[in-house]
Amino acid sequence: MHNFYDELDPPPRLLMGPGPVDADPRVLRAMAMPLLGQFDPAFTVYMNEVMSLYRQVFRTDNRWTFLVDGTARAGIESVLTSVVEPGDRVLVPIFGRFGHLLCEIARRVRADVRSIETEWGTVFDPQRIEDAIREHRPKVVAIVQGDTSTTMAQPLDEIGGICRRHGALLYVDATASVTGVDLRVDDWQLDAVTAGLQKCLSGPPGIAPITFNERVEEVVLRRKHVERGIRADGVVDGDGPIIQSNYFDLPMLMDYWSEKRLNHHTEATSMLYAARECARLVLQEGLDARLRRHQRVGAALVAGLRAMELELFGDLEHKMPNVTGVVIPPGVVGDAVRGGMLEHFGIEIGTSFGPLHGKIWRIGTMGYTCRKENVLRCLGALEAMLRQAGHRCPPGAGVDAALDAFESSSRA
Ligand SMILES: Cc1ncc(COP(=O)(O)O)c(C=O)c1O
Repeated sequence: MHNFYDELDPPPRLLMGPGPVDADPRVLRAMAMPLLGQFDPAFTVYMNEVMSLYRQVFRTDNRWTFLVDGTARAGIESVLTSVVEPGDRVLVPIFGRFGHLLCEIARRVRADVRSIETEWGTVFDPQRIEDAIREHRPKVVAIVQGDTSTTMAQPLDEIGGICRRHGALLYVDATASVTGVDLRVDDWQLDAVTAGLQKCLSGPPGIAPITFNERVEEVVLRRKHVERGIRADGVVDGDGPIIQSNYFDLPMLMDYWSEKRLNHHTEATSMLYAARECARLVLQEGLDARLRRHQRVGAALVAGLRAMELELFGDLEHKMPNVTGVVIPPGVVGDAVRGGMLEHFGIEIGTSFGPLHGKIWRIGTMGYTCRKENVLRCLGALEAMLRQAGHRCPPGAGVDAALDAFESSSRA
């Protein structure tokens, strides 16, 4: 019987959906560390360390690299709210649900939103994006790097250069892709990038790493308006329109994260500890090694699913290695299989939304969850639950093929 006075005791689960995935125990331990006052010199050292760690994660020299409190969309909102003034034109190339989210947020800040769409399961040719920029002349191009809703990763290496040629700023949502898919903020000329912890970074949802360059700094400082009760003497406001959100006001967040230590919000202490540990884990493993791990484990999952004669979703050339879409076989009720995997094996895989609702499952191999034993457990459970649903795969073929793939990749 349920008793409200019982301690929390979540059932053991293996989270292999599109996020959140299991947090690394080191991150959970870091979160259990004692709180510090936000201006304690020991805490501000941690803040500076976080800035420097995330510069490495994002492969950038951007001074403005810090954390925005809130889930990944807090990062998105902080950029779009601070950069986009009412009436500014924003172009969003949409290839899944999160492109629609960028449009929605841009619309709320009263942008003149233009979008182009490609079928879910495909990505854009850079030329198409350049043509749209020529046609719409946006101030900002906002795009997702990896859209978990479709499992696709948009190549970005040419988009930054295109935006520069046409005088547009480029914002990238890398929530689902950071450290699972290559991301080079400076080399690719990405002006602002945001992320979340709950996918390949192996942390809990609740804080959003962000980085942006001087081009963005210049735009947002024009809109700087420091809150009356905390402003120091001599602060001069910008002459641009005030940013509609106090919480997501980048100029105030910049003052908070700089030597000025403006007393803006109370930092989410435990989430900062988590973010710090997530970045340390990435850098200790090595960014390239981590990308290779996501490739290797994702490829073994794909080999297993293929051997089970299941159809994979979308343009596999552009699939993120860390999320795989599986077409639900005809006659199988997708949610019954997912429910069975959770109930009998404690494994969570993802459903999908929009045009893909009921059509595909999404299996995540991200961060701490991205490991051989998890892929083998997931394939075995999926095969058993498909059998219960009346769909027969070649018995044992999935696990065997994945084992072979791991074997040959470890020899490579
Ligand atoms: C690409 C992308 N952007 C944004 C989000 C939204 O993140 P959150 O739910 O943490 O606000 C997600 C979450 O799945 C995502 O995959």
